[in-house]
Amino acid sequence: MTTTVYLNGSFVPIEEARVSVTDRGFLFGDGVYEVIPAYGGRLLRLPHHLRRLQDSLDGIRLGNPLSDHEWENIFNELLTRNRDRAGADNDQSIYLQVTRGTALKRDHSFPEQIEPTVYAAANPIPAPDPDIAIRGVAAVTLQDIRWQWCDIKAITLLANVLMRQQAVDQSAAEALLVRDGLVIEGSSSNVFVVNDGVIQTPPKSPLMLPGITRDLALELAALHNLPYRETDISEAALHDADEIWISSSTREIVPVTRLDGKPVGGGEPGPVWKTMARHYRAYKDDVRSGRAD
Ligand code: PDD
Repeated sequence: MTTTVYLNGSFVPIEEARVSVTDRGFLFGDGVYEVIPAYGGRLLRLPHHLRRLQDSLDGIRLGNPLSDHEWENIFNELLTRNRDRAGADNDQSIYLQVTRGTALKRDHSFPEQIEPTVYAAANPIPAPDPDIAIRGVAAVTLQDIRWQWCDIKAITLLANVLMRQQAVDQSAAEALLVRDGLVIEGSSSNVFVVNDGVIQTPPKSPLMLPGITRDLALELAALHNLPYRETDISEAALHDADEIWISSSTREIVPVTRLDGKPVGGGEPGPVWKTMARHYRAYKDDVRSGRAD
């Protein structure tokens, strides 16, 4: 089964896809990315992801190399060409990245007249691990050592990589990041807590990525009359929560049942998570059948 990727205008086998060693993505991490899930071959919340891509490109002062329509055609072509690598449900995710391009001279400031490098690929989304719904996952808290423009989905992920590895070294699935005593998000996810039945998540700010899954979870909460609030969450409140969840396009909504080695609430996925997971599954089915996007 060949993996076909998109690179600078062409669809090529992944083994043949090459970028220059002088690409500013390679040298400086000078680029942005997106991850877009597709269920049953249909992209989830594509306009929201393309809007966030535009915001990220604006944030690094890089023009969008393609129109929304061109992006959509590339993603659909990748989903089709990689269909045989996906499971029976045909759930895949699109990864795309745009870097500022290649310039022979290494110089921090922007080169003039340079073409961005555009890369996109499709990857199978494995069926959710049933063990997670039974046992949940572990997380640890860490100080957020990142910069102050975390709303830009930048490929420069060294801090996130190091923090995630610190979590993995402690047999945890995610690091929950704390800045000035407030919980911000995970190393590659947004964070929710539930207290007395009320779902809470930090309000959007430049210090966190505005997650598409986060917004969808809040929309589902509103639709199904689950009480929710966007509010600051202190580190102490995180440790006192009845439930903790993390959310992302690839992991969906995952219950955190151990925090820093201690059980969260009863130490099992909580009732509000179970309700939300049911609504999220139903939403994915609606995407599959074309009733929702
Ligand atoms: N990461 N916060 C951070 C720092 C993230 O990297 C991500 C997603 C999220 C969740 O955003 P969304 O719901 O739009 O996926 C929040 C992607 C999946 C990644 O880096 O692979």
